[in-house]
Amino acid sequence: MLFQLSEEHVMIQQAARDFAQQELLPGVIERDENQKFPTEQVKRLGQLGFLGMMVDPKYGGGGLDAISYVLAMEEISKVDASVSVVMSVNNSLVCWGLETFGSEAQKQKYLVPLAKGEIIGAFCLSEPEAGSDATSQRTTAVDMGDHYLLNGTKNWITNGSTASVYLVMAQTDVAKGHKGINCLIVEKGAPGFTIGLKENKLGIRGSDTHSLMFQDVKVPKENRVGEDGFGFKFAMKTLTGGRIGIAAQALGIASGAYELALKYSKERKAFGKEICNHQAIQFKLADMATEIEAARLLCLKAAWLKDTGQDYNQASSMAKLFSSEVAMRTAVEAVQIHGGYGFVKEFHVERLMRDAKITQIYEGTSEVQRIVIARSVLQ
Ligand code: CAA
Repeated sequence: MLFQLSEEHVMIQQAARDFAQQELLPGVIERDENQKFPTEQVKRLGQLGFLGMMVDPKYGGGGLDAISYVLAMEEISKVDASVSVVMSVNNSLVCWGLETFGSEAQKQKYLVPLAKGEIIGAFCLSEPEAGSDATSQRTTAVDMGDHYLLNGTKNWITNGSTASVYLVMAQTDVAKGHKGINCLIVEKGAPGFTIGLKENKLGIRGSDTHSLMFQDVKVPKENRVGEDGFGFKFAMKTLTGGRIGIAAQALGIASGAYELALKYSKERKAFGKEICNHQAIQFKLADMATEIEAARLLCLKAAWLKDTGQDYNQASSMAKLFSSEVAMRTAVEAVQIHGGYGFVKEFHVERLMRDAKITQIYEGTSEVQRIVIARSVLQ
């Protein structure tokens, strides 16, 4: 067993770190405060190849492995999780789903510009009454022969207004349950497709989260991904990889908060010495460092299983469950170490604490991850 990154991995990690420090850090507080979508930053992300990292170069991607993706996600999330959620959804849910299950025509038309970062995509599964219980889709896609007629509402959609391409899960045959669900590619601007108001969120406030409404939207048959009835499995398989991305996002939030707390503890003096010399702070730093290392190993293990063609279902849920809980605990402790300064925006840790919360909710709550893990260990 070799616990060592390759030279290429280190280069990718460094490139992501440089980008985050030089191009994301300036303005991150204002983007969060004003809920401003990071348009320029996402454009740069695309130019640097971070939006289609794992896609085959013949479709415009970087041809990199999932380990590279985890390393880049961690570095970018240390600084701005509103940017990394765009990166995660585009890479894991949209590009991977289309590359793995899409037709050649779908790949040429949609995957190529998505992987190059010329456009971004959205993944539309959640509904007002179908969150964790994802099989309960109420959005319908009625088979009309040469097209589907799409009706319904999707909720909490990342890249809701900025995406150009939407992968929409919808029920075609209710009698078949989850086997009657299809995944349809819907283009922005399709008649009958409207974008609802932007959500005013606790964290990842720079990202645009919207509800979407579909009223008699005609979707051509060739825009169905995979066989008839494959939509739920498509969503589950795609989310399994997506969970590695969100686990890495959580890891980045945790390590970002920890690094800030470590630095601050060496500068801030109390009771005659730097606070890092007080055992109360040392114990916190030791716990944070240990948990982050464990989270990183879980993320890299899940990525390695994916890269080597092994089953990564349990591993991705374990990585997401643990890393997101570590993100929350670490960010809270980072605020505590900063004292009053941690409670104000200039010191970044309050934002990281708010951003951490969503990692326990999206792409499957911590409870959903426990369901997946329990089913796997009980098999
Ligand atoms: N891979 C492949 N197939 C899978 C699978 C997986 N990981 N998980 C389940 N399936 C298959 C099952 O084998 C089953 O198929 P068969 O009937 O043919 O055997 C089918 O899917 C139904 O599975 P279950 O019976 O296990 O379904 P369930 O209703 O018990 O639900 C669940 C399981 C794990 C709770 C699932 O519903 C789930 O993951 N829910 C959470 C949904 C979620 O993560 N939503 C996030 C929204 S997207 C988002 O947040 C993106 C963003 O914007 C950031």
